[in-house]
This record gives sequence, structure tokens and C-alpha cells, in this order.
Amino acid sequence: MVDKLVVTLPLPDAVMVMLRERFDVSAWNEAEAIPETTLQDWVQVSDAILCSVGNPISAATIARAAGRLKVISTISVGVDHIDTDAATAAGIPVGHTPGVLTDSTADMALALMLACTRRIAEADRFVRAGAWSESWSAGTFLGKDLSRSTVGLIGLGPIGQAVAKRVRGFGADVIAWNRTSKDVPGVSAVSLDDLFERSDIVSVHAAMTSDTRHLVSAQRLASMKDSAILINTARGGLVDEQALINELDSGRLYAGLDVFEEEPLPKESPLMGLDNVVLAPHLGSATAATRQAMMERALANLEAGFSDEPIPFCVNPDVYKKL
Ligand code: DGY
Repeated sequence: MVDKLVVTLPLPDAVMVMLRERFDVSAWNEAEAIPETTLQDWVQVSDAILCSVGNPISAATIARAAGRLKVISTISVGVDHIDTDAATAAGIPVGHTPGVLTDSTADMALALMLACTRRIAEADRFVRAGAWSESWSAGTFLGKDLSRSTVGLIGLGPIGQAVAKRVRGFGADVIAWNRTSKDVPGVSAVSLDDLFERSDIVSVHAAMTSDTRHLVSAQRLASMKDSAILINTARGGLVDEQALINELDSGRLYAGLDVFEEEPLPKESPLMGLDNVVLAPHLGSATAATRQAMMERALANLEAGFSDEPIPFCVNPDVYKKL
């Protein structure tokens, strides 16, 4: 029997050619996300799913797939779009791509920090609008120095630690909160409340779970210093976005956001009209080399799943204990 694969998102041609040589592929090729009904029809007759963060794999989809599906492989390290409990209960291994996107995502957090501290996006809009009329001005677009800042990291996993290393290199003081205590050289552990009150820049690097939803709450945002900066390259749901919009709208805070509660960011989002926020379309892992490495891990997970072998980058290894 030919192995049947559902691909839930458009992928580069070279990848699709390779997949089609090896598998019988049903691929979703539209920019908008695959409708759940289509996905459910396809998974009923499939052995594997290749997906990424924009494609929810719900318990209902997994229920349709159970019995035949051998593996769910996501081209991402985060798996909050997949009901992993349902997959585990159905005995389906879920594979992800850890390790290979740490540096790219940390670079993106740094890029957003610098874009915010030095007001790069605002300055770019100013020049393009033809508003630059004085050759040098003593008071235009004054920003902040990273070297004079206290950076507060929420989460000290691999990405949080990579950001700590980078901002220490810029001379910043680094404080951090992690769910479990972690000793990282040059980083002072603080409570979450202290972190929000003391930081000039707060950068979010926690996983998205039901416990961490709106961890960056209205109250915590309100406790941030005037003109402090919030950076989010993790998941939109970690931040109470409406509360952040209120703070930004009042002009009190600044933000650099790569992730949002709803993606793509709706055109009517108030964030679109605010000057004190730098927006990016979920680009943390978006370098050619990193995306290639992610793809390789996702394919290794698929191949092992099809061969009924333990998948190498498994989120729910408990599925193998039941065998
Ligand atoms: C991930 O891998 O979880 C990122 O958010 C997308 O690359």
C-alpha cells in the first residue's frame, strides 16, 4: 500500500517534489488555512500529517484519523496547535523540530529590541514619507541604549538563554523568571512581578499552555515602567493583546511583536495604526538555513513514523510505552 500523507500548508516546490516521489500526497496549497472539514476528510484515509503552527490539529481531527494515522509531524518547535493529549490517547506520536531554531529566534528578539530602542520602523516611515528636512537634529527619534537597560526574560529555555547571552554581550543587566528555578550565569532570578516592575525591556520566551495563557496580563502590563518595551517572539496567547493595545494606545509602552493572538493579524487590528509598536509576521525561525534544518527534522519524524519506528524528535514519547 502507498503511504498517504496530508500536507496542511503550501511548501517550497523542491520539498513537494521530494514528498511526491516518496508518498501519495494530499496538499493544501492556498494562503488561507486549510478548513477543518477538509482536513478531517483527508486524514481519514491518511497515514501521516505534515503541518505547522497555523494549522490546528484538534481532538476531533485526531478522532477521525485514529486507527490509521501513524504520525503527526509539525515543522515547528511549538506544538500548542496540536491536541497532544488526544494524540497520546490515540497512540499517535507527535514530532516537532527542537534545537535548530534557537539562535534564529533569539536573533529576532534582539532585532525587535533594537528596532524598538532605536525606533527604526518609525524612522524608516519618516524618511520614506519625505519628512526628513533637517540634515541632523539634536532631538529627533531619541531612543534608549540597550547597554543601559535592564532586560527581563520570561522563560529560560534554550531561546531565553540564547537571548540572555546576546543582551549580556550588549552590556545590559539581565533578570529572569522561569517556571522551575534555573541557574544561568550572569542572569539574576526574580519573581514575575519584580521582573515586570524592574525591566526596561521584557522579552517573552515561555511555552504556550493553558497555564501560561495571558501570563502577560493587564495587571502586569500596568506595572511596567513608563516607556518600557515588551518583546514577544513566543506565542501571541501569552499576552493579553487587548490590554497591551490599551497601554500602547495611551502611549505609555512600546512593543515589538512577531506573534499575535490571531494570525495572520487581522487588517482591522488597532495595532496596525499605532506608531509605538514594531510588527512582524511570525518570522522568528525565518532564515533559509533554519527552515531547511526544521524541514529535515520534520521529514525525519515522518520517515520514522511511516516505518513504525520511534520518531527522533517526539513530544509524547509515552505513546511508545504503551506498545
Ligand atoms: C515554532 O517553531 O514554534 C515557531 O513559532 C515557528 O517557527
